[in-house]
Amino acid sequence: MPGPSRRRLRRTSLIALVAALALTAAACGGSLDEEGGGEEGSGSVKVGLALPASGVYEPLGVDMTRGFELYLEEQQGKLGGKEVEVVKADEGEAPDTGVPAVQKLVTQDKVDALVGIVNSATALGVKDTVSQSKVPLIVANAGADEVADGGDYVWRTSFTNGGVGEALGGAVAEELGNESVYLMAADYAAGRESVAGFKKSFEAAGGKIAGESFTPFGTTTDWQPFLSKAQNSGAKAVYVFYAGGEAVNFVKQYKSFGLGEEIQLYGAGFLTEGGVLAAQGKAAEGVRTSLHYSDQLDTPENKEFVDAYTKAYDAPPTVYAVQAYDAAAALDLALKDADGTSGEAIAKALGGIGEIESPRGTWSFDEDHNPDQPYFLREVQAVDGGFANAVLNELS
Ligand code: BEZ
Repeated sequence: MPGPSRRRLRRTSLIALVAALALTAAACGGSLDEEGGGEEGSGSVKVGLALPASGVYEPLGVDMTRGFELYLEEQQGKLGGKEVEVVKADEGEAPDTGVPAVQKLVTQDKVDALVGIVNSATALGVKDTVSQSKVPLIVANAGADEVADGGDYVWRTSFTNGGVGEALGGAVAEELGNESVYLMAADYAAGRESVAGFKKSFEAAGGKIAGESFTPFGTTTDWQPFLSKAQNSGAKAVYVFYAGGEAVNFVKQYKSFGLGEEIQLYGAGFLTEGGVLAAQGKAAEGVRTSLHYSDQLDTPENKEFVDAYTKAYDAPPTVYAVQAYDAAAALDLALKDADGTSGEAIAKALGGIGEIESPRGTWSFDEDHNPDQPYFLREVQAVDGGFANAVLNELS
């Protein structure tokens, strides 16, 4: 199973030995005080998990909870050798539910660290709160470019929306030659940044834009007027950002509108990821996307992860599961080195964890605290009687 490197494991054994000695001393009357929300003297840590249990992003929340819990289970319920108490709060769909959920975890539950946040607008809405409260937040999905900017308390194990789009632009420009592309996205931070990232590298490589539409987030059910615009624009391809329930409806309508045959559909990989692909079925065949993960990645680390995840949950893992699995891994490594469980100590230790061996490949935090990681060009293909995101190549 991927996880801490050998070097780290040796250091970990030493730390575990020291911890065991300290525990013995505590049992004999010594003190082992811990700062933060975990029980004093217990060597425990309290982690707040803020993920959607309702709304269009609820399936993403399910996958992320599973990824986090799988890592924890593999470490016998401990991170950095400390017993973990997980407190969950429903992020819901948007900031009106997500921001209060995080506030509750910080002020009422007094968690030592936070993991989660799917929606970019919510992440932007809680960024200042966590920094002021000095509670480290490991963002395990939301990709708004400005969420992680090198501030001490916000770290991200997922991606930037601009980065996922930008990874694809050059390859599409090369594929299209002189032809143009139409852009479409959910009208909020994630959609706008995804499109901007794509546009940047696409235009830099000589690509032409035929037009763009931003569709109301969470309320659009009929994409026909937008699909007509794309068709009438003369574009030979469409690039989109949709995720969760919106991705299912969009891809099905794209196909039934008849665009699938004549205009190649590209997108940020959330468009065809996990449960949404199962719901889209054949309508998604041939859709090409960029992402930093596919369960089809042919590496020993990923195969081992896919086996363990599938065994545990009877479903293949998704990028969302991997991001949360890696958030637990980052916290594990940080807690091994941290001087206690205060927010300051955990945040400081996160800066020194180095590389993470992940099912997606090896990655590390960059200076803004975003993952420095490879991206892949994927295509939905028929695999084993279903559909999967086959990996065509790594994007440069
Ligand atoms: C976001 O809001 O950043 C986001 C939501 C779902 C999938 C990907 C990104």
